[in-house]
Amino acid sequence: MTKKILLSVFLLPAIMTFAQQYGGMWIPTELNEKEMKDLGIKISVKDIFNSQKASIKDAVVQFNGGCTAEIISPKGLLLTNHHCGYGQIQAHSTIQNDLLSNGFWAKNPQGELPNPGLTVDFIIDIKEVTNQILDGTEHLTEPELSKKIANNIESYKNAQKIEPYQSISVKSMYYENKFYAYTIETYKDIRLVGAPPQSIGKFGSDTDNWVWPRHTGDFSMFRIYADKNNKPAEYSKENVPYVPKYFLPVSIKDKNENDFTFVFGFPGKTTEYLPAIAVEKITKDIDPARIAVRDIALKTLDEKMRTDDATRIKYASKYAYVANYWKKWIGEVEGLKKSNAVEKKAMYEGSLKAKNHEIKSTLDQLNKLYNDQTPFALNNTYYTEVIKNAETLKLANDYYTYITAVEAGRMDEKGTAALKKKLVPFYKDYSAELDAKVTAKLLALYANKTAPQFLPTGFEKYKNEAQNIQYFEEISKNSIITGRSEVNGASISQDIDKAFSNQDQLIKSLKKDPVYQLFILMRDTYMTKVDPQFTSLQSKIDALQKTYMAQQIATDKDKKFFPDANSTLRVTYGKVKGSSPRDAVSYNYQTHLAGVMEKYIPGDYEFDVPKKLIDLYNKKDFGIYKDKTGDVPVGFTATNHTTGGNSGSPALDANGNLIGLNFDRQWEGTMSDINYDPRFSRNIMVDTKYILFIIDKYADSKWLIDEMKIVK
Ligand code: ARG
Ligand code: ASP
Repeated sequence: MTKKILLSVFLLPAIMTFAQQYGGMWIPTELNEKEMKDLGIKISVKDIFNSQKASIKDAVVQFNGGCTAEIISPKGLLLTNHHCGYGQIQAHSTIQNDLLSNGFWAKNPQGELPNPGLTVDFIIDIKEVTNQILDGTEHLTEPELSKKIANNIESYKNAQKIEPYQSISVKSMYYENKFYAYTIETYKDIRLVGAPPQSIGKFGSDTDNWVWPRHTGDFSMFRIYADKNNKPAEYSKENVPYVPKYFLPVSIKDKNENDFTFVFGFPGKTTEYLPAIAVEKITKDIDPARIAVRDIALKTLDEKMRTDDATRIKYASKYAYVANYWKKWIGEVEGLKKSNAVEKKAMYEGSLKAKNHEIKSTLDQLNKLYNDQTPFALNNTYYTEVIKNAETLKLANDYYTYITAVEAGRMDEKGTAALKKKLVPFYKDYSAELDAKVTAKLLALYANKTAPQFLPTGFEKYKNEAQNIQYFEEISKNSIITGRSEVNGASISQDIDKAFSNQDQLIKSLKKDPVYQLFILMRDTYMTKVDPQFTSLQSKIDALQKTYMAQQIATDKDKKFFPDANSTLRVTYGKVKGSSPRDAVSYNYQTHLAGVMEKYIPGDYEFDVPKKLIDLYNKKDFGIYKDKTGDVPVGFTATNHTTGGNSGSPALDANGNLIGLNFDRQWEGTMSDINYDPRFSRNIMVDTKYILFIIDKYADSKWLIDEMKIVK
């Protein structure tokens, strides 16, 4: 009976939305056309990816190595998220000319702002190269196996004839069971064209992050420039707007629930094929440990940020960064529990074992390895998260790396200059007093959560948090690392050149520094008692995961497999859809401008709304951008299986027209990185109608709309 209920819970929704039973982020050269047609796509998969002829892929780029962006005009106009262009918008901002707060709109191409270092990558071609890369590896085991694979990759790359502005990247799929080669073209002159103010582009900020219903206009615009031959070039005044092989038409048609949609972009990392035991460890040990560390860091920062404006500004971006995954992991744990991920995986393993006896042995070994690894993995998580979030210790780690490089003769003037260049802005946004408190609390957590056999000598004394705050304040005050004590006659945080003026003295002082010594003790203990075992068990797990992956593919003939995300170009498809993630809670698939006004809190740093937008709303001055409800749609959700890196990805309709810009997922479904569930997993997109409404009516930048091909 119980089993029957379980089965129906899992299978019914799966059958109803068959295509999304397992989600899927597909390699664009291996799309399942039949399934896409069944779901409603009208164009052919050849229109999506074609290495011989212009296709949609020619309009999709990786933005600065992380996010995704797409071309929406014949003049190389590029659309991505506000949070993806945030660094560039911030870099052009000053107190007098604060583009983050006010927004920015170039009046013409001459007004577009260059961004040194910013790149976009086009994928020119994709080839499966498994045979070449695994050639001669049949009987090898580690470490020879890795060496041979690396050599084969090098030889493959060297044998390819490519243009000077192209590169080849070989990526492993299915845990090194397959390999794919990507021909990449990188453009380097990318200029900022427009961005709404944060009160639109980041509306709702951390409170609304990962949350549906959502009202963020999370977009910004750039333009790709090329040399006179339309080829990549470093920034130059002589460069001209890039003429793309293909650009996306922008649709402002109304959306309806169950419309077909697909998302094309560069998802970063997922782990969909782990054994049940691994998911259990993530749910019970790893995620809760990460959350516990960040809980403390965020709470301590927040107390100060709420009462002190200078601190709020200094820590805004760091806080958002730490809070982003903190919030995601909380949602992930809940979602893994709610979707019965561990039980579902265990049942699946049972069915695999029934079909293939060898899988039992693989899984038994994996179970044993994960259990053996648990204490080491847990300490690894606390160690890495504490160092990452206790800024004082992170600094100590940087100085440790520096000293090690100097002593090994690997540090030259350029290296020192690079370190200083990194430290200056760090100290600018660092409060040693505040971090002394964070670090003290995190040390207390570390002392309490570390198993006795891994605890550094003397760390018992940190166990009492309240005492530790006083105790660590003394250490911090007397440290040159925190900038509160001087070296070479200067504070590192005030005058870094002077503090670094005598390298020998700097190193001598660092080695005697109380923070440095504390960090070294922590690091040495970790590196001797935990890291070797953790790493060696991990490489055994990795080898078996490769076997288990191959066995899943060989055994489960009914399932269509897709490789885990690895920052390569993928297509995911589904339907525009709301959801019902909790008892009696039902989410509509679409939000509207009225919802922005409902959330409006005058003067609030997260929910303020610009006056002009309020005026447009009051006057109902929506132009051609309203939908059948009479209001402007702002965001919508669909069942596309996306992850980090898909931010800025185009959401397209059945005809390949742009209908939205992907930027987030709903909280109840963020476990999709491990266990996609069609009932709760939804990606969140900004509606193209809202984007065009803001450009046209709010920013008066009709000249940009005129460049586009609008589908009405
Ligand atoms: N959650 C989204 C993603 O993972 C958006 C993050 C940026 N926004 C923020 N409030 N931190 O990247
Ligand atoms: N917000 C994410 C990104 O920046 C997208 C996601 O995780 O769904 O890529």
